Formats: sequence, structure tokens, C-alpha cells
Amino acid sequence: MVGRLAELPHGTTKKFKLRCQGNTVEGLLIGYEEKIFAYVNRCCHISLSMDWVDNQFFTEDKRHLVCANHGATYEPTTGECIWGPCLGEFLQSVPIKIDEGNILAFCPE
Ligand code: FES
Repeated sequence: MVGRLAELPHGTTKKFKLRCQGNTVEGLLIGYEEKIFAYVNRCCHISLSMDWVDNQFFTEDKRHLVCANHGATYEPTTGECIWGPCLGEFLQSVPIKIDEGNILAFCPE
């Protein structure tokens, strides 16, 4: 389990770690309009974590995710970069399953 539904209202995020094929992958849960999305915390521009201030990913208006490094801006529901140096690319999504309020995450492909 990497999180609980109740702790991710709209505009909040939570980081988690997964062990995948011997490597640790840092993921990111996103609460957005009563749904949960999950991505690998790795910007499409350069392979870096997107948060400088720990666990801060949302723009001020809570509509988009933003990479603190050079400002790439992503659509929370699809992971598509809609502004910035990696325009049109997608964050790698992490498969999740919600079971009785518990969020389970699985290694991305
Ligand atoms: S590393 Fe994310 S915008 Fe450059």
C-alpha cells in the first residue's frame, strides 16, 4: 500500500517508493477532482525529480503539475507536458488499484 484515498483530496500529492527489478522507483500520487493518478517522479525534460521543495508538484491554482527545475507543466490527468521544454511528452504512469480506500501501486512497464 502506498497511500490512502482519504489523504489525497484535490490538489494534494504524496510520494512513494517501489522496488522494481532491483531498482527503487520514486512515484507520485496525485489527488485531482476526486480521482487518483500516479506517475514516476521523473521529468520528461531531464531525468530529474520534479520537486525541489519536497512533495510540492502542483501549480498555485492546483490545476497543473509543474517541474521545479525548468518549469515544464503537466496535465495531472494524462501526464502530458503542455508547456515547457518537453512539450507533448508524457510522464511515465504507474499502475494503481484502489481497494477499500487503500491505494496499491505496481511497477510501471
Ligand atoms: S528537468 Fe523538468 S523542466 Fe527541466
